[in-house]
Amino acid sequence: MKNLILAIESSCDDSCISIVDTDFNIIFEKKVDQSEFHKKYGGVVPELAARCHLEYIQMILNDLKELNLFSRLCCVCATKEPGLIGGLLVGVMTGKGISDGLNIPFFEINHLDGHIESVNIGIEKHIEYPFLTLLASGGHCQFILTREFCEKIIIGRTLDDSAGEAFDKIGKMLGIEYPAGKIIEQNALLCKNKEMLPIGSPMTENDINFSFSGFKTSVMRYIEKNKHLLNNEFINQICFSVQEKISHNLAIKTESAIKFINKNYQNINNFVLCGGVSANKGIISKIQTICQKNQFNLHTPQLKYATDNATMIAFVGIKKYLQNNNIILH
Ligand code: KG4
Ligand code: ZN
Repeated sequence: MKNLILAIESSCDDSCISIVDTDFNIIFEKKVDQSEFHKKYGGVVPELAARCHLEYIQMILNDLKELNLFSRLCCVCATKEPGLIGGLLVGVMTGKGISDGLNIPFFEINHLDGHIESVNIGIEKHIEYPFLTLLASGGHCQFILTREFCEKIIIGRTLDDSAGEAFDKIGKMLGIEYPAGKIIEQNALLCKNKEMLPIGSPMTENDINFSFSGFKTSVMRYIEKNKHLLNNEFINQICFSVQEKISHNLAIKTESAIKFINKNYQNINNFVLCGGVSANKGIISKIQTICQKNQFNLHTPQLKYATDNATMIAFVGIKKYLQNNNIILH
């Protein structure tokens, strides 16, 4: 029976392929992380990323050939946007090549729809629409009203950097390798002196829009002024303050977004937190408190699916495939 979908994700610095069946069972998943190549530059180098994708996507496909699953594919999909164009081209053209060769449909997938769908991976009953979403990743920081499958209204966004970028850029100042979010979270937990340092805060005004750029500059000034004091414990203390400031900011903005939704829409009480930053337990916990206070149910992806992966892309692809074939999901 042809009931498998192959998905490719290559929009940034992870080369990923997954195969999922049309009942959402994961058959194969592989992710090759390129951060080893990019870390010395303190961020993703687009040209380097595209060349790595060329090599790694092919390598994963070679592994896949041994499993003899291609004859069971019913469709192929790949991330089309947003992302770094070189990597996107590699994924889309590879996917189209496979679909043409097998004479099966190809679906272009929006990366943000993938992150939103990531909360449904591994759960029996998928979250019902509409819901409010905070998508916080390296490339995005947005409040989205997800009205229907792949139907998004952006109600708030960052005016400059994303939350993930703030973590990564501050990490770079502290000599922490890219991507820094996870290490900052870990260092914050190791900090012994949990006293807040005088480092400013991300923008609190402007309701449900974000700004992290002024905060980043204030942390940079603080580090410069105190660079003679930088030892491990002091770095941990800076990480603690940064973790607290960013998580507090995401939480208060979440409360404003919930208020906005309650005022303008009816019967929305589900909140989805997704994107790479949703791997952060401190952030989840602060947002959970806000959701509980406002009677919203919080949904987050399993840790493994918070950062970029092809399984979330496959989940969107399956739903598009079923929709195209007039098969109704229950
Ligand atoms: O979703 P993602 O894998 O890629 C984009 O679509 O951008 O997100 C990557 C971002 C990076 O900025 C990384 O530092 C951040 O997610 N990140 C975290 C954590 N794990 C990854 N930020 C805070 N805490 C974490 N545990
Ligand atoms: Zn992403």
